[in-house]
Amino acid sequence: MADVIHSNIQLLSVIQGLNIKLGFREKSVSEICAEQDVDVNFFLQLTNVYNNEDYFPSQELLNFPVNWIVEYLRNTHHCLIHYRIPDIERQITDIEAELRGQVKNIDLLLKFFKDYIKEFNTHIELEEQMVFPYVLTLNQLINKELEFKDIDPKVIRYTINKYTEDHNDIEEKLYDLKSILLKYLPPPPNNYKYNNLVYEIFRLESDLNDHSKMEERVLIPKVKLMEKEFYQQNK
Ligand SMILES: [Fe+2]
Ligand SMILES: [Fe+2]
Repeated sequence: MADVIHSNIQLLSVIQGLNIKLGFREKSVSEICAEQDVDVNFFLQLTNVYNNEDYFPSQELLNFPVNWIVEYLRNTHHCLIHYRIPDIERQITDIEAELRGQVKNIDLLLKFFKDYIKEFNTHIELEEQMVFPYVLTLNQLINKELEFKDIDPKVIRYTINKYTEDHNDIEEKLYDLKSILLKYLPPPPNNYKYNNLVYEIFRLESDLNDHSKMEERVLIPKVKLMEKEFYQQNK
């Protein structure tokens, strides 16, 4: 397993999303997956997404249980909200404090990012509070673990088409943020912190891209199939 991460450090995002603990010693991928209760095929399909940008095994990923996909997306949300975004915000605050008075318009950066956080939180809230509960409830209904009469009407009125319409692109604004840093702000006296911030935003953008691909190309088609199945069962 360690060799797999050595070959592509971006795979750490998959490790994080599946809640796999480090400390791999010489163990193989299948040994670690078996020990930590992770389906090895699910792990391999997710790593393919990160290993090859042009390859997206939507069809294979559609075969996995929807609650695995939701759990993976939720773990990623948790990491973004509690670590990645606050970390970038801290870096911006730090740079701003250092450069205030020396670099013109540096305070615009934090304002821009704070607006971005608001938009980001609204996006995640919709998924966490509406979309995922809807998907999990639908799954329980199909598996006859729940009865229709026991469901919160607000949840069941939702449909995946509504999510398709609502789902906006949260990566786009990060491109603008990088442009402000790369093109428009005057160069800072010390490059290191500044470059590091640009790198972090690139990394966030790339991870969000993969995350959105999972939502758009796996979760949505999967739930469309589930809705069909549910209506078939109940027509
Ligand atoms: Fe998401
Ligand atoms: Fe999303």
